[in-house]
Amino acid sequence: MEIIKRQLINLPHWFIFHNICFLLSLVNNVAMDSTNNSPAKSSTLNQVIVLHKHGELSHSSIFPNIGSFENSNEPEGHLTSNGRQKMYQLGEALRSRYNSFLSNNPLEFKAESSDVDVALESGLLVLHGLAKAEGQWIYDNSTNYLPIPIHSSPQEYPCALDSDCDCPFIEQWNKSIDNHPAMKNIKANYKETIKYLVEKTNSTAFQSLTNLTILFKYLEYAKNHGYPLPDYYTREIYLNLSKIDQQFEQLEACSSDILSIRITGFFKQLKAIISENLSDVNETFKINKPKLHLFSSAELLLSSVLCGLGVSESKIIPEGATLVIELHEILGEDFVRLVYWNTDYTIEPTHLVPIYCNKTSDFCGIKEFLSNLDEFILPDWQEKCGLCPNGYRANEIMAIILCVIILTIIITTCAAVVRRRKHREEYDLLE
Ligand SMILES: *[C@@H]1O[C@H](CO)[C@@H](O)[C@H](O)[C@H]1NC(C)=O
Ligand SMILES: *[C@@H]1O[C@H](CO)[C@@H](O)[C@H](O)[C@H]1NC(C)=O
Ligand SMILES: *[C@@H]1O[C@H](CO)[C@@H](O)[C@H](O)[C@H]1NC(C)=O
Ligand SMILES: *[C@@H]1O[C@H](CO)[C@@H](O)[C@H](O)[C@H]1NC(C)=O
Ligand SMILES: *[C@@H]1O[C@H](CO)[C@@H](O)[C@H](O)[C@H]1NC(C)=O
Ligand SMILES: *[C@@H]1O[C@H](CO)[C@@H](O)[C@H](O)[C@H]1NC(C)=O
Ligand SMILES: *[C@@H]1O[C@H](CO)[C@@H](O)[C@H](O)[C@H]1NC(C)=O
Ligand SMILES: *[C@@H]1O[C@H](CO)[C@@H](O)[C@H](O)[C@H]1NC(C)=O
Repeated sequence: MEIIKRQLINLPHWFIFHNICFLLSLVNNVAMDSTNNSPAKSSTLNQVIVLHKHGELSHSSIFPNIGSFENSNEPEGHLTSNGRQKMYQLGEALRSRYNSFLSNNPLEFKAESSDVDVALESGLLVLHGLAKAEGQWIYDNSTNYLPIPIHSSPQEYPCALDSDCDCPFIEQWNKSIDNHPAMKNIKANYKETIKYLVEKTNSTAFQSLTNLTILFKYLEYAKNHGYPLPDYYTREIYLNLSKIDQQFEQLEACSSDILSIRITGFFKQLKAIISENLSDVNETFKINKPKLHLFSSAELLLSSVLCGLGVSESKIIPEGATLVIELHEILGEDFVRLVYWNTDYTIEPTHLVPIYCNKTSDFCGIKEFLSNLDEFILPDWQEKCGLCPNGYRANEIMAIILCVIILTIIITTCAAVVRRRKHREEYDLLE
């Protein structure tokens, strides 16, 4: 016993130290692997791009005969109190994840939002959770609110954040969605459910799938808020409606005949942001570029973007869902990593790996990532949307040509009439 003790004591210090280091490095590696799955030890985060769907929206019934609830303290069309809290928590979660990357300098942030109340409210709350007036940014001791501007009408990238934008093709597509071949399939598969609901509500409005999904969202909202539910809303009906809703959203957001039109604007902007920040871009050019871009979007955009990135799992994208695109530099090369929060921001977000990326890690090579974006960017977006490429100019020219034609017609007819009349007068005179 004595001998062992003595031997232990006699062991050189460096030996123990070395072993502790070795153990620590092991633990460290294991921890790295489980959270980062990082192939390289030295990855530098260079840029964070956040796209989130607005938080919980207050609903009220727009259909007759489906029961209604008093909802006076949650004004319709705005975030609910739960929605506000969640959006603020999202901001805090982003702060804790990127705390070593970001300071509280407002110039490090750039924000854009759909021009819709819930999206703007969401953006404001996320930013408030993310950055506070501290140190040199304090302007009044009674508040730590740090104002960061939110742009709501990006001119350069039309329709980047709004599914509700000036694009006749989308409008037309929306209007005829109930007649889309894929919709007819869904209708055929769930004809029992539809028939049942039409009978129970005494309303043929629910023959339309658009209306059925609105009904479903309304009923789920009522359920989550403890409002009384109609008797017909059984578990089986709930399950069927949620499947209808999921398939409907998948079609609306990702159908191949509309996906590129929906995401061209956002993908163009994404490409521009990423390209500005690549490691081989001139350093002086990069100074004062924002580190975090926040995009607060209305309804469908996030679903469509996930489809375009090839990471959609055909699930319903809930309110508050958030995609983060991280731009990393590893040994002089650029990589993208995609992380996703469903609605629980207290847990680690999941890593999404698109199929076109190297599957051995969570990091996606920048080339593969950008070339996928290119596949969806329509160079002739305006034309595809049914807009005149050069806007009013083309219209003006058309108008001038039309005027000239009409004038010519009028003049020649007048001249002809006058000549004939003259003729007749001469003829009359002769008689
Ligand atoms: C905030 O409080 C500190 C310490 O109480 C004071 O020195 C400072 O002037 C105050 N700043 C403002 C902007 O009121
Ligand atoms: C298309 O429909 C979706 C969902 O019903 C709606 O959010 C969007 O505003 C509509 N867009 C247009 C251009 O009508
Ligand atoms: C639910 O959908 C299935 C078909 O997917 C159908 O057989 C069943 O009758 C539906 N249930 C109700 C209550 O409508
Ligand atoms: C259904 O609607 C029709 C016409 O609006 C009405 O006459 C009928 O009484 C309603 N039935 C039920 C069960 O509400
Ligand atoms: C959907 O519901 C609205 C509101 O009740 C109704 O005006 C509209 O006609 C319905 N759409 C269809 C296609 O039935
Ligand atoms: C990306 O932009 C940030 C913010 O300006 C900058 O700190 C970083 O060095 C840039 N990274 C690369 C790889 O350009
Ligand atoms: C970076 O760009 C600036 C301005 O365009 C230029 O003056 C400078 O020489 C460039 N530096 C390098 C290393 O290319
Ligand atoms: C994928 O990554 C592994 C390890 O980082 C590398 O050896 C391999 O060449 C990569 N494959 C492609 C297609 O980039």
